Amino acid sequence: MDKIRQTLKLYGFLGFCSLIFQVIYTKILYKNARIVRRPFDIRGKKQIRFSRGFTTGRYCRIEAHSQMPCAEPIIEFGVNCQINDSVHIAGAEKIFIGDDVLIASRVFITDLNHGSYKGPNQSHPNTISRERELHTNPVYIESNVWLGEGVVVLPGVRIGQSSIVGANSVVTRSIPANSIAAGNPARVIKQFSFERNEWVNVNGE
Ligand SMILES: CC(C)(COP(=O)(O)OP(=O)(O)OC[C@H]1O[C@@H](n2cnc3c(N)ncnc32)[C@H](O)[C@@H]1OP(=O)(O)O)[C@@H](O)C(=O)NCCC(=O)NCCS
Repeated sequence: MDKIRQTLKLYGFLGFCSLIFQVIYTKILYKNARIVRRPFDIRGKKQIRFSRGFTTGRYCRIEAHSQMPCAEPIIEFGVNCQINDSVHIAGAEKIFIGDDVLIASRVFITDLNHGSYKGPNQSHPNTISRERELHTNPVYIESNVWLGEGVVVLPGVRIGQSSIVGANSVVTRSIPANSIAAGNPARVIKQFSFERNEWVNVNGE
């Protein structure tokens, strides 16, 4: 009863009714999930795996584009992941999101580029962008990571367990576990010292 009272206080009466509707809709369409708020745009659902406790805000878009038949899901969420409003995840090879990952609003995560701009067989600028071959590089976001508001995670990146990415950062390179990274491009600014039991600036202060 207390939980209902608290929820009513937080969302108001209409918000509470809308929440009940969203819960019913979730249980019908996404049986493991906790709450999937609408509108929710999902493309290639068969290649997306949600786990228990999955929660979303509104206006999220999750899309899996399989280039060839594959048994494994392209986008995978561990248990109790929470993504907030307007999160966009676009995968064509592998985007793995571990357990208890918290993703703030307006985050974009992708493992794909339209075309290739380094190495052999580079794309020509005269080729129409949408007709360029998709080039992919898997993305791994390990358990208990927190991505702040507006973060962008680009192909080929691994974010280590329990790390944090600051608001509006663009992650172009992997980040080790237990670190805080920020900026564009994101750089590690702090790491957790288990010896000192506190976050320590990487410049030693
Ligand atoms: C990353 C974050 C957690 C770091 O917090 P903090 O450890 O208290 O950071 P500090 O204030 O000690 O800042 C350390 C340095 O990093 C810089 N910094 C912090 N966050 C930054 C960011 N998002 N982008 C760029 N630089 C950032 C600070 O300017 C400071 O630089 P300086 O040493 O040159 O002055 C926080 O800044 C942040 O971005 N939080 C995200 C909030 C959010 O998105 N909430 C959504 C709710 S789900």
